[in-house]
Amino acid sequence: MMSTQPLYEGKAKRLYLTDDAQALRMEFKDEATAFNAEKKADFANKGKLNKAITLLMYQMLHEKNVETHLIEDIDEINLLVKKVDILMVEVIVRNVAAGGFSKRLGVAEGTPFKKPIVEFSYKSDALGDPLINDDYARELGLATPQECQILKDKALIINEVMIDFFLKCGLKLVDFKIEFGKLADGTIVLADEISPDTCRLWDIETGKKMDKDRFRQDLGDVMEGYAEVLERISKQA
Ligand code: TMP
Repeated sequence: MMSTQPLYEGKAKRLYLTDDAQALRMEFKDEATAFNAEKKADFANKGKLNKAITLLMYQMLHEKNVETHLIEDIDEINLLVKKVDILMVEVIVRNVAAGGFSKRLGVAEGTPFKKPIVEFSYKSDALGDPLINDDYARELGLATPQECQILKDKALIINEVMIDFFLKCGLKLVDFKIEFGKLADGTIVLADEISPDTCRLWDIETGKKMDKDRFRQDLGDVMEGYAEVLERISKQA
């Protein structure tokens, strides 16, 4: 079960084969990167916190009929997941201006949108995950127009479910990035992780940032933010 050679290693996780050809072990690392790995650091317990948060978020989403690649919990830093073909399109949903949106377009951080914005980027570290649209995805062979529509529809449902859930935890869901994978039968399911690495979460009362922006912007107490997110969602779950 505990193979030692990763099948794939990303910036925040490793994937390993298991005895079951249809299942992989997903290990959460303590390493953090930002700005396409220009900035790097190790945070003790990040793997544990992000694994625990992803597990609770996936369980919560399952209850709301959102299918994910989760099979079951393994241990502190590992989840057992269904083997999927990851679509090389990252799907970003924004409810409030921040990060890359604010930088690119000069819109003040914190400006709310009337409706959520769904954005695609090409999952390519070599190219720095460039912004793309449905036509780019079609021509690059990343996803068909029908698949792009499925990604948008699913992302907006996931956004609504997560906005409600985080609100109950006293957190504002500013934006997030998700990835999808295809099961052997072609079904598209949510994959990868949902954590403070991949979501912007602000305290509803104080606006305090509780996510990876604490690292990106050198705000300090990075893991304290993640731990607080875990504590709050554990109480809601
Ligand atoms: P951005 O504003 O930097 O484009 O980020 C939008 C959201 O996506 C934010 O919640 C952080 C997340 N994100 C990732 O998970 N991985 C990435 O590589 C990037 C750039 C952003």
